[in-house]
Amino acid sequence: MTESRAQWKSKMGFILAASGSAIGLGNIVMFSSNAYRFGGGAFYLPYFIALFLVGMPVMVAEFGLGASTRKSFPLAMRVAGGRAGEFAGWFAILNAGFITMYYITILGWVAGMAWGALTTDVTASFGASAKPPFFDSFKMTYGPFFGVVLVWILNLLIVSRGTKSIEPVVKVFLPLMWLAMIVLVFVGMSLPGGFEGVKVLFTPQPEVLGDLSVWQGALSQMFFSLSLGFGVMTAYASYLPKDSDLTHNAVTTSLLNCGFEWIAGVAVFSILFSFAIAPSSSTIAMMFYVVPAGIAAMPFAAKAFAIGFFLLLLVAGLTSSISLLEALVAAGQDKFRLPRWRTLAIFGTVGVIGSLVFALPAAALPGLPLGLWLLDLTDHWAFGYGLLIVGLVECIVIGWVVGSGRIRDFVNANSRFRLGVWFDLLLRFVIPGLLLMILISAVSQGEAGGLYGTKTDFSKTEGILGSFLRVSPWVVFLVWMLGGGGLAWWLSGRRGVEEGLPDLEAPLPSGPGVRSAGEGTAGEVDS
Ligand code: PFF
Repeated sequence: MTESRAQWKSKMGFILAASGSAIGLGNIVMFSSNAYRFGGGAFYLPYFIALFLVGMPVMVAEFGLGASTRKSFPLAMRVAGGRAGEFAGWFAILNAGFITMYYITILGWVAGMAWGALTTDVTASFGASAKPPFFDSFKMTYGPFFGVVLVWILNLLIVSRGTKSIEPVVKVFLPLMWLAMIVLVFVGMSLPGGFEGVKVLFTPQPEVLGDLSVWQGALSQMFFSLSLGFGVMTAYASYLPKDSDLTHNAVTTSLLNCGFEWIAGVAVFSILFSFAIAPSSSTIAMMFYVVPAGIAAMPFAAKAFAIGFFLLLLVAGLTSSISLLEALVAAGQDKFRLPRWRTLAIFGTVGVIGSLVFALPAAALPGLPLGLWLLDLTDHWAFGYGLLIVGLVECIVIGWVVGSGRIRDFVNANSRFRLGVWFDLLLRFVIPGLLLMILISAVSQGEAGGLYGTKTDFSKTEGILGSFLRVSPWVVFLVWMLGGGGLAWWLSGRRGVEEGLPDLEAPLPSGPGVRSAGEGTAGEVDS
């Protein structure tokens, strides 16, 4: 029995969907806050190294894994690396699940800001001197509840029919996003003093390069921004025809993503500097306080810009969150052979509850910033460490277990640009080495960059609650490692489901040193 798997209608559809996944909150605000925090122009050195040496090769590998096996991440990893591979695949999916929940919470807040821009006097409510700033008062209401539910409904609708419903949406959204960003750049650059901001963005402060956290920041920025380490690119590539030019697709997707964040950096820096507003090193602060204050200071059409900016964030975020949801749903569907609507209902229910937990308590318990605290912690572990861990394991499985040579042969068979042995060296030695170094340094310093970018300070919270909050990062870490790891292990060991799987024909062209079928490849999955 051969499986009929959904397919993108066109190469353009795939590129738009993959670049839509990549372009999101990470590009519009996180890049600017990271560039500000990590030394302006100097950040570009680690950034480009991360792009060319890590981002692009890992993307080629993730595409290769998906297109060759035509499976979503956990099962593709099973085909590639046996049970250990599938275990790592599920761990990535669980990690992605957490990130999806809080990514959607943030999008719910973004929707609230768009609503605020529409219904309030932006100059007053978004301005630097607003007391309280609009976001603070909004968080205390039940508005985030509606925002989160709305964004979840949109996500579920857009992924309801898989590629069939995703493709038409990205075809409209992506051109709109580019257009809006280009308008913002022109407006920012035409503001008096706007160009000064751009200079700050590009002026190097070389002294930061000795700081490992800058390198870690660049690597996590790259993984997050290019949507790597989530299983997303593998799921999207599993809907490609096998003869696609994957290298070309990966280069195009990464350059579109990075191009978007460079021009977003120009827009954000020019607008802020024009009004003498300092950027922030926290993405959340940048998104909800700093950029709104910059827009509120605009001499003309502040309201229209505020609405436009938050709608742009919402649309960009949606094209990212749908890819996360698709990766999760495809993983569940491939493994358990459930109908799509049922998988969507399960993920939707768990997801809405999770996103609400991140969003609501600020309103329910005004004294305790529980929602933000949880978001901060999850961000710290799932984003700061989780992505790097998944990236590391992924490179080991692809580089050493499958053999990067096999992925390279598969990719080269249909690509105009041929990957050389350097690809193997990168995947087997350079990237895992870099990731391991950065991970060790992050763990030893207790510092991991994340979307949140700051750590909630509980040093002044008294009593038992204070003590708990202070040790909580470690409690969360243990729960995450043991709970997430245990669940991933259990999922990877579930038999019976694989029996229903169609034949996973030997997915990769064979080459020297290839494991034979039945030895952790197709045979093992089928048996
Ligand atoms: N790349 C998205 C951004 O920059 O905002 C975030 C993201 C989307 C990460 C999808 C991972 C993912 F699978």
